[in-house]
Amino acid sequence: MNPESFSTGLLAWYDRHGRKDLPWTQSRDPYRVWVSEIMLQQTQVATVIPYYERFLARFPDVAALAHADLDEVLHLWTGLGYYARARNLKRAAETIVTEHAGRFPTDIEQVRALPGIGRSTAGAILAFAFDQHHAILDGNVKRVLARYHAVAARPGATLDKALWPLAEAHTPAARCAEYTQAIMDLGATLCRRGRPQCADCPLASGCAAFAQGTPEAYPAARARRALPTKHVVMLMIRDGAGRVLLQQRPPAGIWGGLWGFPECAVDSDARKFSREQLGLNIELEPSWPSLPHTFSHFHLAITPQPARVVEAGGQAMENNGTVWYRLDAPDARGLAAPVQRLLQQLQGAR
Ligand code: ADE
Repeated sequence: MNPESFSTGLLAWYDRHGRKDLPWTQSRDPYRVWVSEIMLQQTQVATVIPYYERFLARFPDVAALAHADLDEVLHLWTGLGYYARARNLKRAAETIVTEHAGRFPTDIEQVRALPGIGRSTAGAILAFAFDQHHAILDGNVKRVLARYHAVAARPGATLDKALWPLAEAHTPAARCAEYTQAIMDLGATLCRRGRPQCADCPLASGCAAFAQGTPEAYPAARARRALPTKHVVMLMIRDGAGRVLLQQRPPAGIWGGLWGFPECAVDSDARKFSREQLGLNIELEPSWPSLPHTFSHFHLAITPQPARVVEAGGQAMENNGTVWYRLDAPDARGLAAPVQRLLQQLQGAR
């Protein structure tokens, strides 16, 4: 391997074919770069763009985010998934205001100490915002390097350990920001997981996997485990005024801090649950068809269970983390994607 020709070839390709019109490449403001890198951690570019633009319009700088209401931050994250990212972003903004006088740190150790920022994201932010010299190793870059060097390890700590020194060796001293964007773009476009476009790849002549004729064999497939399925009933309780009861989820765990329907076990008595846990007498309506939702570690089978409050009650219920949510005038709070979909269906059914 000649490290020089790797970055030179990649940068020449980027100059001609790279994506230079992405919203976060228009600015070197570390706050904007940081928000984009967090959103892009587990989510594709096309999905991120409208979220990114709404988020930046509402929270244009780190102070605005630090002083924001977490419910509103989660509201702008609704549908993007991996909500811990939003909670960490808000906590990190508070840290930047209190411990770094409102300025995004420029020292990599200080950046890595912020919640939600690992080694690769820290390197990417500092490369993009300040053209500092750091290697990155996100999912796309891992694939490029595992192929180029035919590294056979399965995804995980062993593979990362093999790839970090290679990532560092390839990162050029000059044009580090452009190189970083270039290697991300190569992984996202030509060197994609399925059917890589090796004929157009600027690195093909040095690529060990290409020489073997098996680029798709790298990186090795993850050990496959069948995901377990959990079942849950979501109680969609409406009152006489067309409002629906939502409950805030605990701060940690799946959908942490988001608002959802009260949930009970599939084999439980929903009316008893409602009476005992929510203080509401309800009447059940026919349940809706099961709705599947997949998380990284399990499948969730949701049974949507519509219900009506029996008494003309429903006032004075807004304690114990519940709220009567107006379908016709929704307010700004974070909702999990299936909950948002069910709320839209409830509104449509009125
Ligand atoms: N994925 C992570 N960071 C990215 C970036 N800056 N551009 C495109 N895809 C990315």
